[in-house]
Amino acid sequence: MKVLVIGASGQIGAWTVKDLVDHYDAEIIAADLSLERVKKLAQQVGKENVTPIKLDATDPGAVRAAGKGVDVIHNSAWYELNIKIMPVAIDLGVHYSDLGGFYDHTLEQLKYDKKAKDAGVTCVLGMGSSPGITNVCGAAGARKLDSVRDISIYCSWGTKVKSDNAAFPTYSIRTVLDEITQEPGIVENGKKKKVPALSGMTEVLMPDPAGKVVAYYVKHSEPATMADFIGKGTKNVSFRIGFPANDFTTFKTLAQLGFGSTEQINVGGFSTSPKDFITAMYLKSVEASREAGQSVEDFDYFRIDVDGTKDDKDARVTYYVKTWNDLEKGLPSARDTSVPPSIVADWLVKGKIDRRGTLPPEACIEPEPFFRELAKRKILVEEEMQQTKTYY
Ligand SMILES: NC(=O)c1ccc[n+]([C@@H]2O[C@H](COP(=O)([O-])OP(=O)(O)OC[C@H]3O[C@@H](n4cnc5c(N)ncnc54)[C@H](OP(=O)(O)O)[C@@H]3O)[C@@H](O)[C@H]2O)c1
Repeated sequence: MKVLVIGASGQIGAWTVKDLVDHYDAEIIAADLSLERVKKLAQQVGKENVTPIKLDATDPGAVRAAGKGVDVIHNSAWYELNIKIMPVAIDLGVHYSDLGGFYDHTLEQLKYDKKAKDAGVTCVLGMGSSPGITNVCGAAGARKLDSVRDISIYCSWGTKVKSDNAAFPTYSIRTVLDEITQEPGIVENGKKKKVPALSGMTEVLMPDPAGKVVAYYVKHSEPATMADFIGKGTKNVSFRIGFPANDFTTFKTLAQLGFGSTEQINVGGFSTSPKDFITAMYLKSVEASREAGQSVEDFDYFRIDVDGTKDDKDARVTYYVKTWNDLEKGLPSARDTSVPPSIVADWLVKGKIDRRGTLPPEACIEPEPFFRELAKRKILVEEEMQQTKTYY
């Protein structure tokens, strides 16, 4: 299998490349803006499988040249690039996946469904942990119920030993800032609507050591697709993050200082935007932390509640998705986002995904085999079912 990974030296992309090589012996074209960074990645993987190339994915001609002859193109760079890369993959007749379109881009990408079908390709939209594993959990829960009312998704992360130090964000600070400053979409009473960022505050019980967390609506792709693709009468879909308290304060301060802005400012004769500046600082620390290794045990958790009815009684199916970093093997907890695209590339090539078009994960991934593949990488999915019993 040959895969073009774009954004390959990023925090998520680098581990996707490693998983593709380690688990499937895949041949990888590792593409990024910086040739130096992907060369370093190829050295770290330490096999002949990885060919590093410099690529600016805003240039469709360059993506076309790099993607010719590959089986799958995976975009692990910014979600804004999905809409530039995916049409090239469809034109080339090559399968495609990405890590999510941040709600609005996902809705745009779905408009390419017919083109993808006509080209005989599958474009899997939002195939990380969330969106990604969370969507598949929603679909798995819906299969166990006769009708679905609500799908409520929660995310939290943190460290085993609580510390006053701010944790390192497990994904790009650019995305975190977008999440907490832009209006989230939810599905309410069967209709998609936008609500204020960080509204919908609620308490939710996550597995230990997270415990009870305060969670807020943030912008995510799941509510863009899950009601439509899961069906069964689904009326409400929401996504909330329960940030660790220290991190939440840090992120809110950065947002209030304007680091989420893309407006150009002049600093010492150079022009840049606060968002580009903080992203560059973040990427520098990602590289340094990868070289230094990890010293703290951290977790990434999701909870997905699917509420509805079974045999005319109220019922709930809950999924817990749990990932810990592995200090001995140097694996980050963020592998829950890096691994799903690797499994999907294998399944696309082996024909285990045979539906064509632009599809979110809930529409094309078989849940139980997928959960078992995740378990091989110690990404643990647990399912609980509760059904109301009445004596009247
Ligand atoms: N679905 C999920 O569960 C999930 C979870 C977390 C994150 N995400 C998404 O995953 C994406 C990547 O996150 P990350 O944390 O890995 O980010 P990251 O560490 O910043 O990596 C992104 C990489 O893409 C490169 N890149 C940027 N523009 C490019 C272009 N035009 N052409 C080629 N490469 C380009 C960046 O290079 P430069 O540094 O030079 O700009 C960087 O190396 C984000 O969009 C995020 O929203 C999804």
